[in-house]
Amino acid sequence: MALIRRAAAADLDAVLAIEGSWKTTPHWSRRQFEAELKSPRSIFVVAEADLAVLAYAAAWVVVDEAQVLSVAVHPGALRRGLARKTLNGLLDEALKSGCRKATLEVSETNEGARRLYESMGFAAVGKRPGFYPDGTAAILMDKVL
Ligand SMILES: CC(C)(COP(=O)(O)OP(=O)(O)OC[C@H]1O[C@@H](n2cnc3c(N)ncnc32)[C@H](O)[C@@H]1OP(=O)(O)O)[C@@H](O)C(=O)NCCC(=O)NCCS
Repeated sequence: MALIRRAAAADLDAVLAIEGSWKTTPHWSRRQFEAELKSPRSIFVVAEADLAVLAYAAAWVVVDEAQVLSVAVHPGALRRGLARKTLNGLLDEALKSGCRKATLEVSETNEGARRLYESMGFAAVGKRPGFYPDGTAAILMDKVL
């Protein structure tokens, strides 16, 4: 069973290792993650199981909207429900912070992530062609909390 909790400085090595193992993450630096830990408008959670950090998710609170910035799971721990659980933990925190809606952008080619978001009740509400550096479009998705 994974525990979802707020991230701390001691988690950053594990978070950076997870982030660095994927091409589809935003590739934040350690300094950017440190800023998220300190920012009052940021919600940054990790999933911990067997004393290891296996997933993380981050969002910004903008008035009553949670803008989900990143979700990623350790490549050795996929399809165990960790992303869903971590994202649900993030959205619970967003609700407690007064958010009534969550938004995100996902590459149209990232089918795994799109299915994850759809399975959690996010709906596609728009598209930004050429949004990512490789020229792929971003699908904009929303969920009422
Ligand atoms: C996308 C990602 C977060 C999914 O993590 P995960 O822990 O494996 O996902 P879960 O086990 O919680 O899956 C929940 C549901 O999402 C869907 N899903 C997840 N990965 C999928 C895949 N590769 N293909 C199809 N559906 C997928 C399924 O509906 C799944 O339910 P099921 O296993 O009962 O069929 C993970 O693959 C990842 O970290 N990818 C790299 C980072 C990334 O692209 N993040 C999103 C953009 S920032």
